[in-house]
Amino acid sequence: MIRFGIVGIGNMGSAHAMALFRKKVKHAMLTCVADTDEEKRNWADQKFKGKVKVFEDYKEMYSSGLIDAVIIATPHYFHPEMASEAFKSGLHVLVEKPAGVDAKSVEIMNADAHNSGKAFGIMFNQRTSKLFSTLKYYLDIGVLGDIKRFSWIISNWYRTQAYYESSGWRATWNGEGGGVLLNQAPHNLDIWQWMMGMPDMLVAFCHEGLFHDVDVEDDATIYAEYKNGATATFITSTGEYPGTNRLEISGTKGKAVAEYGKLKLFLLKEDERELCYNSQEAMPTEEATEIELDLKDEEDGHILIMRNFTEHIEKGIPLIAPGEEGINSLRISNAAYLSSWKNVPVNLPVGEEEYAEALCKKRVLERKRKPEKPRLSAKIDNGKYSKRWTVQW
Ligand SMILES: NC(=O)c1ccc[n+]([C@@H]2O[C@H](COP(=O)([O-])OP(=O)(O)OC[C@H]3O[C@@H](n4cnc5c(N)ncnc54)[C@H](O)[C@@H]3O)[C@@H](O)[C@H]2O)c1
Repeated sequence: MIRFGIVGIGNMGSAHAMALFRKKVKHAMLTCVADTDEEKRNWADQKFKGKVKVFEDYKEMYSSGLIDAVIIATPHYFHPEMASEAFKSGLHVLVEKPAGVDAKSVEIMNADAHNSGKAFGIMFNQRTSKLFSTLKYYLDIGVLGDIKRFSWIISNWYRTQAYYESSGWRATWNGEGGGVLLNQAPHNLDIWQWMMGMPDMLVAFCHEGLFHDVDVEDDATIYAEYKNGATATFITSTGEYPGTNRLEISGTKGKAVAEYGKLKLFLLKEDERELCYNSQEAMPTEEATEIELDLKDEEDGHILIMRNFTEHIEKGIPLIAPGEEGINSLRISNAAYLSSWKNVPVNLPVGEEEYAEALCKKRVLERKRKPEKPRLSAKIDNGKYSKRWTVQW
């Protein structure tokens, strides 16, 4: 039995806590939670009725001897430091996405994870989607041939002004370190790099406060290139309603389209490159075989990630989302910000020092302009997984 503690029992941490408390994960039990907010601790006292120990200071929880593993569900800036301390305390770590805010601090966390020899996972729950994992499998075995283009419009991460003001840390460079690319779209950036690997160059346009009264970007467009000539476009937003979730991947042997919860494959008999150079016709029409797959997810991906993490600790089963891979989506968002701020294309990875300094400047400017962030009423569904955290079509 793996004994879990959770740091941060806000929206996300409270849902993980309830899932573990209700025994949704075999061989895992919730023994402790920690939160600096008194309201959250009172909530935990009420919910768990003394069966789970509630800490104010997470370091006391780490050294309590009551946990084997910790889930870190605090605001992003805290992730690397809290994870590193957990590894040094001999704990396994499942960290929420994003891995952190800048690649430099995440490198340190990854090194600490490696040196500890403990299990390290990241909550990329969308990797459990049957549609995405099936598509990745087809790409890996070459069903689409060599990939030419990856393009994703993921603009259905709609959020209101009330959402942004539900916690003081949200949508600020000081509290969150980014906007849609760092909060909502890390899932999609991760799936992009999971399927395609890391691009070599990108240029990005990140629009700050385009649709909301926020300091960070709520709309972004990235164009990226790979060494082999493949290209990628990635468009995301929290300000479109109804938004779109359409992923299209085009290869030399056909294309795949994921939209409305369905995966469609259009497969060619002959590789298009052969056709291009061998055909005597100027504009040939080739039949493509169309296959439609309706792949529904029965269980919440967060629970599947916690199950997989527990089985990894107990039985060595490979992780669906290894923690060390969290740096990749962050490298893409760090590069996108730098490209947008400097208005130039950038090669990946961007200099970690350069990025950390540029982010620091944004934070200083923001502090001067807006020392305190006003708060609207927060409507929090404590203890439940929100539909808005799952793959929406
Ligand atoms: N995987 C997903 O689907 C998903 C969904 C939502 C949020 N998240 C991630 O979870 C993290 C938290 O987001 P949230 O929406 O739950 O935020 P939240 O503000 O609702 O909760 C954060 C909690 O952390 C606590 N906290 C802050 N500093 C602390 C400290 N030093 N020690 C202990 N507790 C501390 C706060 O009091 C709060 O209760 C973010 O990184 C976010 O990106 C992931």
